Amino acid sequence: MGLTMGLDIGGTKVLGGVVDPGGEVLALARRDTPADDAGKMLRQIMDVVGELADAHEVEAIGVGAAGWIDAKRSTVLFSPNLAWRNEPLRDEIARYVQVPVVVENDANVAAWAEFQFGAAADATDSMIMITIGTGVGGAIVLGGELVRGAHGIAGELGHMLAVPDGSRCGCGRLGCIEQYASGNALVRRAQELATGDPARAAQLLELAGGSAEAITGLMVTQAAKAGDPVAREAFAAIGYWLGNGLADLVQILDPQVLVLGGGVIDAGDLLLHPTQEAYVNALAQRGRLPTAEIRGALLGNTAGVVGAADLARRP
Ligand code: BGC
Ligand code: NA
Ligand code: ZN
Repeated sequence: MGLTMGLDIGGTKVLGGVVDPGGEVLALARRDTPADDAGKMLRQIMDVVGELADAHEVEAIGVGAAGWIDAKRSTVLFSPNLAWRNEPLRDEIARYVQVPVVVENDANVAAWAEFQFGAAADATDSMIMITIGTGVGGAIVLGGELVRGAHGIAGELGHMLAVPDGSRCGCGRLGCIEQYASGNALVRRAQELATGDPARAAQLLELAGGSAEAITGLMVTQAAKAGDPVAREAFAAIGYWLGNGLADLVQILDPQVLVLGGGVIDAGDLLLHPTQEAYVNALAQRGRLPTAEIRGALLGNTAGVVGAADLARRP
């Protein structure tokens, strides 16, 4: 198969790309998406598809969407952070194009790209990836294949339990890791800490014009890089939950490689170090067992596009 198109649909934007069989991105197009309007979202998606398909001949389209996808790779069953409920996304897109369309989970497509072309390209068998953005996504590769589960929804690692009876998650459950380790959780934590002790958060608050409510994820990263103790503590808090979750996953699946990805990974070691520390502490057997190392994702914000386009080649 020649060129394929990958689409990555998240809470704030749809990013599309034309990708060759080696994972090279030849063209990109992007539109903002309203998280709360399914009709408008579809129009933005078709805009991106049209722009790319007019300029390039693609033979299939792969879509990564932020939610639970059915086993037939066609319907978004539910999305905690988007307006989709039983959305027949594959058929909606296929109505306007003459090529096959497959729909996959957004974290699964990003993980597939990292496994084929990125941080885990040297792994021959297995990896687990967690993506940290608006939500917390996950993916499991075993025996060289994505694990989709009996109903299509395997690898929803963000909805593992962190805190029994904890904060209510967008999925309806109490205490999911997503509520403690997402980009939103990072910002919430930094805001709470800055409100409680403004003097300690002086650098962060200066970036936010003095108001804790104005703190954004980028500001937390920037302040943490500059040494702000509150921003660093917020990263340490999300790293704690991620490291503990990864340690449990290693006990269950013993993969070759663990990868952390998503927008928040731009913070690099500010996130990887506390995650690594929590991971090692949580593995009581450390030193006696070989265990996977944790790596940062390599492909950045085009991972989803590349992985979706590659999965579109595999019926
Ligand atoms: C959703 C996942 C998605 C993740 C990242 C979670 O809330 O349940 O399906 O992969 O967010 O977007
Ligand atoms: Na997943
Ligand atoms: Zn949840």
